[in-house]
Amino acid sequence: MNPLRTLILAAAGNDTVRRVVATAPVSRDVVRRFVAGEKISDAIDVTSDLVGRHGLRVTLDYLGEDTTDRATAERTVRAYLELLDQLHDVGLAADAEVSVKLSAVGLAVSETLALDNASRICAAAEQAATTVTVDMEDHTSTDATLRVLAELRRHWPSVGAVLQAYLRRTLDDCRELADTRVRLCKGAYAEPASVSYVDPHEVDLNYVRCANVLLAGSGYPMFATHDPRLIEIIGERARWHDKAVEDFEFQLLYGVRTGEQLHLAAEGHVVRVYVPFGEQWYGYLMRRLAERPANVSFFLRSLVSR
Ligand code: FDA
Repeated sequence: MNPLRTLILAAAGNDTVRRVVATAPVSRDVVRRFVAGEKISDAIDVTSDLVGRHGLRVTLDYLGEDTTDRATAERTVRAYLELLDQLHDVGLAADAEVSVKLSAVGLAVSETLALDNASRICAAAEQAATTVTVDMEDHTSTDATLRVLAELRRHWPSVGAVLQAYLRRTLDDCRELADTRVRLCKGAYAEPASVSYVDPHEVDLNYVRCANVLLAGSGYPMFATHDPRLIEIIGERARWHDKAVEDFEFQLLYGVRTGEQLHLAAEGHVVRVYVPFGEQWYGYLMRRLAERPANVSFFLRSLVSR
């Protein structure tokens, strides 16, 4: 892995660095480039703009990872319930769903707690007439996440899965889940070579292999990438598999390649933007910085330019 990426991902888990960044005079604009804001109303405003003004769809992520106690998990669940209520009330539920990390709703406490809490969110999403996608986290939680997902799908078959092309196991997981709703991404965590492809080219090759399996299935693939080469290949493979534009979607992160988001939508593709919000923006921001040196210099410039 690129040394800068390793360093920033290490900083993402370092409490001292977190305190420094969180209290530094970071320009609002830096955080706001990648995060909708800290409040539900911020998330609703950004969603309304992306959907209403730009014809995009949205998946909303309430930021908060590695919850180790029930009370914090409960606060996260309540935030999602409130968010889903408001999405319904303002008429955005048809175009905006939610993404949930099981670590944020109690996976570290117990799998049962995570399942119970995720079930409450799925029930609220059903009430609001929208859907849920369960984000995938580091490889130590893949099996537990897929077990919880399978349980959730017994009641809510539309719950989305996420598979990460950098994991060696993922091609098999794609074969298993190809008839369901699956987001395919490269993967954002620092993983050991024993379980993951380390060479970025290998990851890309596996992404294409996995995409082919998903496109050959009867499910609804959601291709989460900013990679122009992969986006082009997916478009070509989708045509080869006779998929209409409404049979799959592209997903990109809020604040990343916004021109491409609009361009793909203008071409008739379904484009969904992953919009994070909440007070726990630090870990998320660090992962975005780790992905791209240009983001780091943007961040550093804003620290000194105040
Ligand atoms: P990568 O980072 O390799 O970039 C490839 C190319 O894309 C670059 O060379 C450049 O051309 C272009 N590019 C990338 N960033 C750009 C920028 N800021 N500006 C301009 N061009 C840029 N991960 C995970 O582990 N679990 C999850 O649940 C999710 N969920 C998720 C949802 C959505 C909607 C997205 C888009 C991503 C995720 N991810 C994720 C993150 C994902 O795994 C991955 O870390 C990032 O998307 C970065 O990978 P890319 O595919 O964009 O390629």
